[in-house]
Parts: sequence; structure tokens; C-alpha cells
Amino acid sequence: MTMHRKDFIKTCGLACLGATSVGMLLQSCVATKNITAPIDGDQLVISKADFAKNKGHYNYIVVSNTRLQYPIALFRFSEENYTALYLQCTHQGNELNAYGDKLVCSAHGSEFDNKGKVTNGPATEALRSFPVKVLQENIHVSLSAA
Ligand code: FES
Repeated sequence: MTMHRKDFIKTCGLACLGATSVGMLLQSCVATKNITAPIDGDQLVISKADFAKNKGHYNYIVVSNTRLQYPIALFRFSEENYTALYLQCTHQGNELNAYGDKLVCSAHGSEFDNKGKVTNGPATEALRSFPVKVLQENIHVSLSAA
């Protein structure tokens, strides 16, 4: 039986809504949210609302600003607990990509966990991390420290 494109899209749409298709579910789980956030003084300011999604929260978002050479991955562990990691590989400085809870370097395959610890070489040093202050509405990442 051949499925027409229109029917396929319709089926896919329903599967996504009901999250009944494992493939679709996985895909939506690893989708990375990228935002640009302002820098105020030495603080990168991210709105907590950026973590909200239809159901629940993003586990992390990738934050850029033109003044940052590399983006920062901001992982959310709870309402009050976040980690900010600089996405520069500690091996030879390639930019890392976030996949779920993993940060992966496409240059030589190093991997880091969501705390910045090396889980796979050749990198040996943990990622640079920044202090995070959680306020009522916003999250402040201190860029001068660390
Ligand atoms: S630069 Fe990232 S593994 Fe070599």
C-alpha cells in the first residue's frame, strides 16, 4: 500500500501530538532550543520563561550573544539549580554540539556530560563553567568569574 504524502503528514502530525511514535518522541526530546540573550554588565541574562515548553521544561538551552565567541549551554536540573558551560572543546577548541545531556565535539569525538566533565577523550580537561545566580524571573550567568 502506498501512502500519499498528504496522508503521511496527517499521520505524522497525529503521532506527534499523541507522542505515540517512539521515533517522533525521541526526536522532540533531543531538539535543541537556541536563543540569543542580552549581556548586562558582565552578566548574561536569560529569562526563566525560555525553559518552558508545552509540557514541562527544556533540560537545557543553548545561549548566544555576539560578544561571546562560543555559545553557552545552560542546563536546568531543578527550578533553582542550573549549570552554565562554555561550548568550547578543551582539546583543540572546536565548538561543541548539545545532544540531550551530552556535549559532543565533531572534530575528534570528545564528549562531556551536563556538568562539563569529560566522558570521552581525547579531551582531558573539564569544560569551563560559569557561576549561575537564579533570581525570580531571570537567570544570571556571570561571565567575568571562572
Ligand atoms: S577539538 Fe574537540 S576533540 Fe579535538
